[in-house]
Amino acid sequence: MCPSTIVEAAAAVQSPPPPVPPEARAALRAWYLRAARPLPWRAAGEAPDPWSVLVSEFMLQQTTVATVRARFPAFLARFPDPAALADAGAEAVLHAWQGLGYYRRARLLHACAREIRDRHGGRVPRQRAALEALPGIGPYTAAAVAAIAFGEPVVPVDGNVARVLARLHAIARPLTRAMPELRRLAAGLGDPEAPAEGAQAWIELGALLCRPRRPRCGDCPLALGCRARREGRQGEIPVPPPRTARPRRYGRAFLARRGDGRILLRRRPEGGLLGGMMELPGTAWEDVPPGDPPAFPLSGRWSRVPGRVRHPFTHFALELELWRGEVEAPADQPGWYLPAEMAGLALSSLTRRLLRHGGVEPPAVRGARRPSGGAAAGRE
Ligand code: ADE
Repeated sequence: MCPSTIVEAAAAVQSPPPPVPPEARAALRAWYLRAARPLPWRAAGEAPDPWSVLVSEFMLQQTTVATVRARFPAFLARFPDPAALADAGAEAVLHAWQGLGYYRRARLLHACAREIRDRHGGRVPRQRAALEALPGIGPYTAAAVAAIAFGEPVVPVDGNVARVLARLHAIARPLTRAMPELRRLAAGLGDPEAPAEGAQAWIELGALLCRPRRPRCGDCPLALGCRARREGRQGEIPVPPPRTARPRRYGRAFLARRGDGRILLRRRPEGGLLGGMMELPGTAWEDVPPGDPPAFPLSGRWSRVPGRVRHPFTHFALELELWRGEVEAPADQPGWYLPAEMAGLALSSLTRRLLRHGGVEPPAVRGARRPSGGAAAGRE
């Protein structure tokens, strides 16, 4: 960025946000009341339950609405208040989080529930500062909970809202770079008359109409005031971020099956990637594909399953070979499970994918629809 652009950007960030014309606010709210999706964490006509809102916002941090919608009711039925989650064991929490991906959030939500139980008398705190001090809650989630659960007139800026604002103001820069300016613009958007609906209306507008591709400007309540539309640039904004290749990592996984049909699983170390979840034994994940002959965990009749299992993580893409073996092991050894017994275990979507690739159907995740192929809903 050249010096004059830096000065302009700094000035833009500091100056007060433009006011929202009252007719635009009214049009947006009316559209939201007509078009909003009936999502299970939204209170239709009643006061929202702060715990439901908080749990939904944790889930929505990195997982699509479609996936959260399918899994949220079962999670909330199992942990209906902060104390229920706080009192549960880590294994039960990870198990209930299955299918949502990014399992670190499950641990943070668990820690958050314990703090709510121990320091806030079991009730979700109302103030944004207190919310932000809880594990796993950053400025976005604190603002979302404050607005939706407690009626603070703020608009949290997620990817949806950022895109809407970038188009409204024709900000032709990648969203991550434009974030300070977008936050400044959002500072004036809260609706004091209907804070919860006001906040969700902006999110919903981005999700339903002002979509990344082919925005439905003809149906948009804010189209008249949208600079990108006026200039015919809604297809060019937001500007995509510069492409960076995600590094690839490689390894092998071993599906060892005993004569009685039981399969060997192990627990991943706590704290790291997919920490504490159950997985097939395998090699370390390296920067180059495995070259040496496989070092099988047990002797038996092993064969390579054709193809590879690919799985996207946030910072790298994983590619695994799968080997299947008919093995012998003493019946009383721990760690061997029948597929039906895996229903009680925390299995990541990677492990489920490997099992399927090896011809073993893992038990369904409760509340989930089977994915119709393609990438898993959540990543770690
Ligand atoms: N994404 C993040 N928060 C959301 C919400 N409350 N409703 C829909 N999508 C969201």
